[in-house]
Amino acid sequence: MGMKERIAEIQELLVTELNQVDGMQALDALRVKIVGKKGELTALLRGMGQLSPEERPAAGQLINEAREKFTAMLDEKLAAIKARDRELALQKETIDVTQPAPQPQMGCEHPLTLALNEVVDCFTGMGFEVVEGPEVELDHFNFELLNIPKNHPARDAQDTFYIDDNIVLRTHTSPMQARTMLSRKPPIRIICPGRVYRADEVDATHSPVFHQLEGLVIDEDVTMADLRGTLNAFAERLYGKGITTRFRPSFFPFTEPSAEVDLTCVSCKGKGCRICKGTGWIEVLGCGMVNPKVLEMCGIDSKKYSGFAFGIGLERIAMQRYSIPDMRLLYEGDMRFLGQFR
Ligand code: PHE
Repeated sequence: MGMKERIAEIQELLVTELNQVDGMQALDALRVKIVGKKGELTALLRGMGQLSPEERPAAGQLINEAREKFTAMLDEKLAAIKARDRELALQKETIDVTQPAPQPQMGCEHPLTLALNEVVDCFTGMGFEVVEGPEVELDHFNFELLNIPKNHPARDAQDTFYIDDNIVLRTHTSPMQARTMLSRKPPIRIICPGRVYRADEVDATHSPVFHQLEGLVIDEDVTMADLRGTLNAFAERLYGKGITTRFRPSFFPFTEPSAEVDLTCVSCKGKGCRICKGTGWIEVLGCGMVNPKVLEMCGIDSKKYSGFAFGIGLERIAMQRYSIPDMRLLYEGDMRFLGQFR
């Protein structure tokens, strides 16, 4: 078969296959097959060795012309495929600019944050300053300086997570009492909100992670009347007129005397209902006069100064304030629940 016939054959093959090519990849493959290094045309070129020297120039020219022609045909197809792909993309990606845009979902504050902000407002309004402390705390501040030495039975009620023998996840915000007394001079009037930890099982009213707000006042002539007055003002400011406090004797190693404080049940205004289990009162905090021993350990002259401290359970306040029946709702992150506080 002559060179011309062979080239015509290849062209026929090219035309047939070009008609079937439907994308870039197939086209590239075809280009390799026809004009590539191991393609049909190159094979012809190699076969030229068998021709006589006189025949070679004409045959070489034929092959080169064919290469140019075939490359042009392939390029033409390439342009067509590109144009078609672009057209498809334009069709697929059209946007209807008259459609309303999707609105970003607005977040809202968590009920615990809402309750915290309200409680903080009550106290800053009375002249308290907000401080914060570490959640990973030294045993020294969490227990020792609060008059809870190693092996003291009060440690049982505050079992926690130990990082090592001397470092714990704080069991209350009270270590900030000690830290503040050590770093400031009286008069001191601080509150300290924060996360605390205890080795507790989860149920409707318990969680191993919860929140407290500590309060500390140290000055000359501070008495239990000041403590009572402060907490009554807090109760009224938070829940309104007629809401007051009830002090019950209690024990904390770092306060003396100590008390548990109940607030008038907000649901029944003290008449007795299901929420307060018929008592008319809801327990929300522990408090007392700062133990002189603690004052001395923290470098404050207990003959000159006295003070009071309190620790409020924030979950209790939030649950009471927003009628939340189960503490677990506060931590589960269910948007159906959280979205109600918008
Ligand atoms: N820290 C105590 C607790 O977590 C509460 C408390 C704070 C009691 C301050 C007295 C004074 O139970």
